[in-house]
Amino acid sequence: MRTKAAVLREAPGEWAVEELELDGPGVGEVLVEMVASGLCHSDDHISAGDTQVGHLPLVGGHEGAGIVRELGPGVHGLEVGDHILTSFVPGCGECRWCAMGMQGLCNNGAMLLQGKQLDGTFRMRDDSGTDVGTMCLLGTFSQWQVFDQKSCVKIAKDVPLEVACLVSCGVQTGFGSATTAGDVQAGDVVLVAGVGGVGMNAVQGASLRGAAHVLAVDPVEDKRKWALQFGATESFESIAAASDRLSEVTGGQGADVAILTAGIVRNELIGAAYQAVRKAGTLVVTGLGPDSEDAPIPGLNAFGLAMWQKRIQGALYGMKSPREAMPMLLDLYRSGRLKLDELVTRVYSLDEINIAYDDMRNGRNIRGVIHFSK
Ligand SMILES: NC(=O)c1ccc[n+]([C@@H]2O[C@H](COP(=O)([O-])OP(=O)(O)OC[C@H]3O[C@@H](n4cnc5c(N)ncnc54)[C@H](O)[C@@H]3O)[C@@H](O)[C@H]2O)c1
Ligand SMILES: [Zn+2]
Ligand SMILES: [Zn+2]
Repeated sequence: MRTKAAVLREAPGEWAVEELELDGPGVGEVLVEMVASGLCHSDDHISAGDTQVGHLPLVGGHEGAGIVRELGPGVHGLEVGDHILTSFVPGCGECRWCAMGMQGLCNNGAMLLQGKQLDGTFRMRDDSGTDVGTMCLLGTFSQWQVFDQKSCVKIAKDVPLEVACLVSCGVQTGFGSATTAGDVQAGDVVLVAGVGGVGMNAVQGASLRGAAHVLAVDPVEDKRKWALQFGATESFESIAAASDRLSEVTGGQGADVAILTAGIVRNELIGAAYQAVRKAGTLVVTGLGPDSEDAPIPGLNAFGLAMWQKRIQGALYGMKSPREAMPMLLDLYRSGRLKLDELVTRVYSLDEINIAYDDMRNGRNIRGVIHFSK
């Protein structure tokens, strides 16, 4: 069938909206009519050339929501008409990590940036017959898409998919960065650096856990203002600008938990956050830097790491399993304790995708969302 999708042909480069040929669903796959896709910074890392991918051209997008329209053979637990969110890691349910309840770390993760499906083949082609890959085995920047059932999380139909889509990456990642990776406790002092689509949910997670102080850091004034509406108690333009206040509220000790959710996390920023954490505190690194980054981390050496007993915790997908976390987060939304509608600053058509990413880079949005009906 034909579908319209946002394709990256070279990196660095821009998204081009093109018509592509899409195969029908194979064994264990479903055909999904996409309703909405959030615009996460991770897709921008691909088009900016920060993150290398194994195959171009590539359809971007991994924060998606849609409706199952056709089942391939051997699909279990999904029916035509079901609402699904995409999981950017297709958890196999069988490997060591899935068995340990760490579905986000599934061995299938090795395929995320290869552009291919789990069987090593492609589902999309352009008019010259060239195979077109997909981001995270998904490619949600497409009106129609074929997903492996492992990439689909079935959800109840009461939450509009235009809102629910955010849970598929930014909300789970940010919320879990605070609650699971950072394990924020009631009364903690938490620093969140970078309050965009991911970080705003780290703020929400820390606040829901009962943190006494949530200090939001972002160079963009609007983000600092918006963070206060999501549970931040104060906001600052840099970690350095927050340091006096941090010292004041912790008796000079430093943050219990610092969470890095900036758009581009360079090692210099890791160093600043590491130094802002107290003895035996936790630094959560969620935001990505260029995959080529190998500069030293200022202030980090073995002596200090051992003597201060600090923990540096990398976090993928908020260290939560999508099938468990996404329905739970939607429950929190239903009960009015998690803000989702307020995260959507602007809605775009697929054709406006480069404008949308320009808005993200210029700090105009908490999250931009593509509506396929627009
Ligand atoms: N680990 C994971 O599983 C995972 C999942 C999704 C996204 N990510 C990564 O998380 C990061 C954030 O993604 P996003 O979609 O929220 O991006 P975003 O662009 O929406 O938000 C990033 C925010 O960081 C701010 N910022 C920039 N430089 C800063 C600095 N030096 N200090 C503090 N704030 C700064 C920006 O103003 C912006 O508000 C990206 O690197 C993305 O690739 C990681
Ligand atoms: Zn993402
Ligand atoms: Zn697995």
